[in-house]
Amino acid sequence: MSDDIRKRLSELRQALHRHNYFYYVLDEPEISDVEYDRLMQELIALETEHPEMVKPDSPTQRVGAPPLEKFETMAHTIPMLSLENAFGEEEVLAFDQRVRRFLKTDSPVLYTAEPKMDGVAVELVYENGRLVDASTRGDGYTGELITLNVRTIKTVPLAILEMVPERVPSRLEVRGEVFIPIEPFKQLNEERLDKGEPAFANPRNAAAGSLRQLDSTITAKRPLDIFCYGVGMATGLEFASHWEILQALKGLGFRVNPHIKPRARIEEILVYYRDLLDSRHEFPYEMDGIVIKVDDLGLQARLGEKSRSPRWAMAYKFPATQETTRVLKIDVQVGRTGALTPVAHLEPVSVGGVTVSRATLHNEDEIKKKGVRTGDTVLVQRAGDVIPEVVKVITAKRTGVEQPFRMPATCPVCGAKVIRLEQEAVSRCVNANCRAQIKERIKHFASKGAFDIDGLGDKLVGQLVDKGLVKSYADLFVLEKANIAGLERMGGKSAQNLMDAMERSKQTSLARFVYALGIRHVGEHIAQVLARRFKALNTLMSATADDLIAIDEIGPQVSESVIAFFDHRENRENISRILDAGVRIETEEAGAQEPLAGNTFVLTGALESTTRSQAKARIEALGGRVSPSVSRKTTYVVAGKDPGSKLDKAKQIGIKILDEKGLIECLEDPTAFSH
Ligand code: IVH
Repeated sequence: MSDDIRKRLSELRQALHRHNYFYYVLDEPEISDVEYDRLMQELIALETEHPEMVKPDSPTQRVGAPPLEKFETMAHTIPMLSLENAFGEEEVLAFDQRVRRFLKTDSPVLYTAEPKMDGVAVELVYENGRLVDASTRGDGYTGELITLNVRTIKTVPLAILEMVPERVPSRLEVRGEVFIPIEPFKQLNEERLDKGEPAFANPRNAAAGSLRQLDSTITAKRPLDIFCYGVGMATGLEFASHWEILQALKGLGFRVNPHIKPRARIEEILVYYRDLLDSRHEFPYEMDGIVIKVDDLGLQARLGEKSRSPRWAMAYKFPATQETTRVLKIDVQVGRTGALTPVAHLEPVSVGGVTVSRATLHNEDEIKKKGVRTGDTVLVQRAGDVIPEVVKVITAKRTGVEQPFRMPATCPVCGAKVIRLEQEAVSRCVNANCRAQIKERIKHFASKGAFDIDGLGDKLVGQLVDKGLVKSYADLFVLEKANIAGLERMGGKSAQNLMDAMERSKQTSLARFVYALGIRHVGEHIAQVLARRFKALNTLMSATADDLIAIDEIGPQVSESVIAFFDHRENRENISRILDAGVRIETEEAGAQEPLAGNTFVLTGALESTTRSQAKARIEALGGRVSPSVSRKTTYVVAGKDPGSKLDKAKQIGIKILDEKGLIECLEDPTAFSH
């Protein structure tokens, strides 16, 4: 082995570690994807030629390793404690008082507060800058070694050496929370349901399940991420405050949540909490509260700990998103692909501010596992934007009249046979012309991410299909006003509105078009990937399996499904009919449809004419981005009624401020506002 090769290997690894950091941790790539791929390919080629030179911390080694029999355990050098919870301001103020009483001080204590991530706590152990072990929290003293799994998480540095050599400690234990963001979570569940696997109840369970895989190649496919929030042992490093620790971690290449409130009095921490609570739905991941920590490490040491939790920290939780209620009945819904999903109809209950009257029970096995019966009192939860679901049965409330559920043997809508393939958790109606399936396919076609036909809601789709006016989505665009005006609760004016909305929707993008078709395994993201790669519908339709598999994010399953879809004559005919009806696919040139592309908005305070989530959707539809916090990259801060501290920050750093009227003007004439 020549020194040249050794040198080149080391250069490539260093470069790739660095670019990984810029790409995944900072989200600010320094080189293009193509250049990155070129470096990676060169490294893979060299390592294939010289397998003896492959090191576990090489950037090529994130794909997982051969399965384990079981997890080994590992003792934490310093116990991983848990936190006491507060649920209201009084409890937080009482915590501050306790801290000051203990420290015998009248002057204010400064706290650093962070989002509390709802995931799985892990410890990462680095020796001389290399990741050697990673473990779960376990009972706080001993955890399970999940090193191979953690190594597959792209935002976990495999080596910190290359970043800042002079600051690498001989042993560094970093603590953080592994989680799955909301969108990738939904995508993961969609894929699982499609494959007949049970869906995960919430992102936390999905993260925990993924970390507990004995086969790390499975973990490697899960969209795990991490925020680091502390250290255990850190030989040779000295810190005076928690804030310093966080800054140092950032400097060493770890991902640290950017929405941290540093060194503030307790009153300001309460404002921070309210701001975060208010904007939590704008974040791409779930938080279950904030963690408040005494910033000064000297004070932390004086405060010490009680049995299992430190006196210097406290979790201030967001209001519960779980409630109990009663199951009135369980019925079965038929989805777009014929999958039967049992749904619990509930006595309406407010969960975290939203009324919930239905919850998914996922599938037969899930009902069996949870033992849900009609008449049961159950715990339901809402997580992020995810569909509400039943967590568990409160069996103590049973009276004996509760009825167990049985999956029907025939489709409740069309009467066709229901089958459940071996190894699948899902039962399906076998009739592709089942009215329920047709309705779902049309609803999907008209949905926001697809043709976005305003006003074509569930009820209307139901009527159109039931009356035989529409048998497939291709029939939509040939509907006439007279057909629609005759339907229930549809006057001439609403019929005209719908005709106008359909006309508007005919101008679309390739990604939306492909997504609308409802090809199995092709969600919004994959549709975008396909559109970006093939640019035109014809090219995509004639793509071969090899063309498809060659795309990074596309595996054999998606490829097969795409090929099968376009092979099917009826699908091709439907596509021709849609195009004949005047649907036009715009070429994917950025800017054409996205006048706000490159503009970042931050919303603060209440809006009167619209809700924040609607405002967010409209900004995004125009290509803009909505971010939860103000930074120099912010283009506009929109200040509604009673704006929070974000407005002050915007003024401080000179960001342009819009009031509600300004926002509406911007949405109506975006080109005038784009920067
Ligand atoms: S600090 C002694 N910071 O919450 C301090 N924990 O209930 C211990 N968690 O096991 C933890 N985000 O899994 C801390 N920013 C954060 C956190 C956080 C989530 C979790 C962690 C811990 C649990 C404590």
